[in-house]
Amino acid sequence: MLAVAVLAAGKGTRMKSDLPKVLQPLAGSTLVERVLQSCEQLSPERRLLIVGHQAERVEQSLAAHGGLEFVLQAPQNGTGHAVQQLLEPLAGFQGDLLVLNGDVPLLREQTIHDLLERHRRSGAAVTLLTARLADPTGYGRVFADAEGRVSGIVEHRDCSEAQRRNDLINAGIYCFSWPALARVLPELRSDNDQGELYLTDTVAMLQPAMHVEVADAEEISGINDRIQLAECEAVIQDRLRRHWMCEGVTFVDPASCTLSDGTRFGRDVVVEPQCHFRGETVIGDGCRIGPGCLIENSTLAENVEVLHSVLRDVTVERGCTVGPFAQLRAGAHLGAEVRIGNFVEVKNSRLAAGVKANHLTYLGDADLGAGVNVGAGTITANYDGVRKHRTVIGAGSKTGANCTLVAPITVGEQVTIGAGSTLTRDVPSGSLALGRARQLVKENWPGPR
Ligand code: UD1
Ligand code: CA
Repeated sequence: MLAVAVLAAGKGTRMKSDLPKVLQPLAGSTLVERVLQSCEQLSPERRLLIVGHQAERVEQSLAAHGGLEFVLQAPQNGTGHAVQQLLEPLAGFQGDLLVLNGDVPLLREQTIHDLLERHRRSGAAVTLLTARLADPTGYGRVFADAEGRVSGIVEHRDCSEAQRRNDLINAGIYCFSWPALARVLPELRSDNDQGELYLTDTVAMLQPAMHVEVADAEEISGINDRIQLAECEAVIQDRLRRHWMCEGVTFVDPASCTLSDGTRFGRDVVVEPQCHFRGETVIGDGCRIGPGCLIENSTLAENVEVLHSVLRDVTVERGCTVGPFAQLRAGAHLGAEVRIGNFVEVKNSRLAAGVKANHLTYLGDADLGAGVNVGAGTITANYDGVRKHRTVIGAGSKTGANCTLVAPITVGEQVTIGAGSTLTRDVPSGSLALGRARQLVKENWPGPR
């Protein structure tokens, strides 16, 4: 039997943020989501989250995650006090309790799995994860013998000079036999520099206490300030890029690109420098992205090329080219082989296969049939100051340069619209539409006097 408890009640004072620390984002997921993910495969019987500072906000952010038990810690009087809150919800529980600090987001599932294995094999009352750090400043120091038996943990601020030289640190990840921990929890005292109840003090009260040193100390980095947040972001970005390179994606300049957990790539995608992928984004086989793109919550089918453009909440079918300097906004749907050129903005519009809008255009709330050619400078005037209206253009039609289509308006199929027209009325299929002043020419004009 396994229960997992994540400590997420602290304020995160050193972040200097209005956001609770565990809700700080890393590659599109919050800190606490990452910590929860790292123990998902263990399929624990119980998952408890200790919340306190801005508890409601933390709970709301995890509303989509089923099976979580929220346990309130108020006020927040230290990590030992946090775990004391479990005495009631876990009364009578006979299994192991895995405790994870909510601010340690780089842990690999395998590492937690190994910790649990070791704990169960050795029969220890507690097994904790440790690391040797070149700079152990700020972490609790673990005192252990050569056999891995731990005598105690002393927080950095409570250490003597000599104790500080010990570079074996507490990662904040523990596997306890819950009945043993439950017996000693009420005995914790707050006679330390912070006047708090420390979970780490239970280790000296529990025998045997063992530790497991992680191979890769990077994994146990805790986040207390924005410098550590940025360092962890860099590690996660590196992991994501390496993963996708192994899956057949070329990054020309990997370090200049960022990904989210929800980004997926097909094979033979080439990502040029300075590209950023956010949210749930899918990039199909053979796409060429960049340089200089931001793509968020979007789906691109095969062989799409995007250059220096911003795409958010859009769908792009196969073989399209976008950019340079285009913006595709929420609800843009490009059919196959659509061409979107420089300084073109598309919002909430469906462009059927083969549409071309190559220069200086705004298409908002529009439906364009197959093969429509949008002349340079065409604008759909979709907003009357109160409401948005739709523009419909039938297959095979052409708008001339510098046209304004005042919505609501329906233009039929195979229509030709003269350059410089402002159209306010529907146009039937097969016609020529002109909506501009006749040209006036006065010969031999003397010029201003
Ligand atoms: C803690 C450990 C330290 C270890 C380090 C690893 C203690 C006393 N110290 O120190 O030995 O090296 O983690 O990163 O445990 N929290 C609560 N309620 C509270 C206080 C904290 O839920 O009352 C939560 C925080 O939200 C956070 C976690 O516990 O997720 C750790 O708290 P933090 O204050 O960051 O502990 P450290 O000083 O880093
Ligand atoms: Ca911490």
